[in-house]
Amino acid sequence: MTTMLEPGQAGAASGGSAVKRIGIIGTGIMGADHARLLTGAVSGASVGGVFDVDADRAGGVAARSGGARVFADPHTLIDDDDIDAVLIASSDATHEEYVLACVSAGKPVLCEKPLAPSAGACARILEAEAAHGSRLITVGFMRRFDPGYTALKAMLDDGAVGAPLMIHHVHRNPAAVPGLPGSALITNSAVHELDITRWLFGEEIVEVAVHTPRPSTRAGGTRDPQLLVLTTESGILADVEIFVNARYGYEVRCELVAEEGTVTLDAPPPTSLRRGGLHARELPADWRPRFAEAYRLELQDWVDGTHRGASAWDGFAATFVAEACVAALDSGERRTVRLPDRAPPVSA
Ligand code: NAI
Repeated sequence: MTTMLEPGQAGAASGGSAVKRIGIIGTGIMGADHARLLTGAVSGASVGGVFDVDADRAGGVAARSGGARVFADPHTLIDDDDIDAVLIASSDATHEEYVLACVSAGKPVLCEKPLAPSAGACARILEAEAAHGSRLITVGFMRRFDPGYTALKAMLDDGAVGAPLMIHHVHRNPAAVPGLPGSALITNSAVHELDITRWLFGEEIVEVAVHTPRPSTRAGGTRDPQLLVLTTESGILADVEIFVNARYGYEVRCELVAEEGTVTLDAPPPTSLRRGGLHARELPADWRPRFAEAYRLELQDWVDGTHRGASAWDGFAATFVAEACVAALDSGERRTVRLPDRAPPVSA
């Protein structure tokens, strides 16, 4: 049986080298950023090959990644003996095909979120990994590695503020493409809060509701903003304000409310400017600077084979809850979430 990449373990055809050669499928914004990190900021890894349907884009990323090979076919990349593990950063609809191919080749795969766009597709992936028998899949919910979220979770787990009652999440982007369906705010953006809520509390989400005010006139017809209200198994409430045309910048923050106090995760950086009657802090234009360290740590962890990243089950659960939220948005009604019984976790 092919094993995961363990710390210090050489790639299959690396002749004893400890460097894992990563194949990247999809070299758009995320794939290019991951290639940059794997090349210059993550130890023990190199970019061995890339594929994108846009061959020029793939060629550009390969050239900046120490001369990685450009593959003409994604399945050839996955099956190539010189590729030890695969990172999938192509568009959502392609994830199922590529993840299944990686599992069938017995190769570790880091798939950008979502694991797949439908719970049915995620279930097929879960089954394939279970049939393989050991853990191969990690899902790119990088917030689990963000120093702010990990500090918040440590305080929660240490009992610093007592038993949790509620969490208020805020997730704002400056602008989205006009005409974006309202469901995309849930499946593309709020899915991060669905995952982080499950991860923080170690509980499943059992009920969801989605409220919408009048849409912003800047939203180009999209139902934006939205307010998701989630209930966990033990009765913790999580609300998620998702606003993708908030104009002023990219911002993610939250406040945990517990029995003995609260914990606030604010937007970095800690440096702020006081001048001319203003106290100002710069905000990034998009998510990459905000979560730069989380992406780096996520990749390092994956390359090291430590398995702290989100599993295929986590990917399935996030998509399953997202589907319930979309149904709640469409119907205007609360939805009960009944996750199927959890399959026995595959061994790491
Ligand atoms: P993008 O549009 O910049 O890049 C996607 C790339 O996939 C493009 O270069 C496109 O040519 C390529 N592609 C399309 N079909 C393909 C196929 N069949 N085979 C191979 N390549 C194909 O999109 P972006 O923003 O880089 O997103 C990529 C993935 O990352 C998506 O699944 C997205 O949901 C996820 N994502 C995750 C984020 C996170 O914070 N973890 C943030 C943004 C995106």
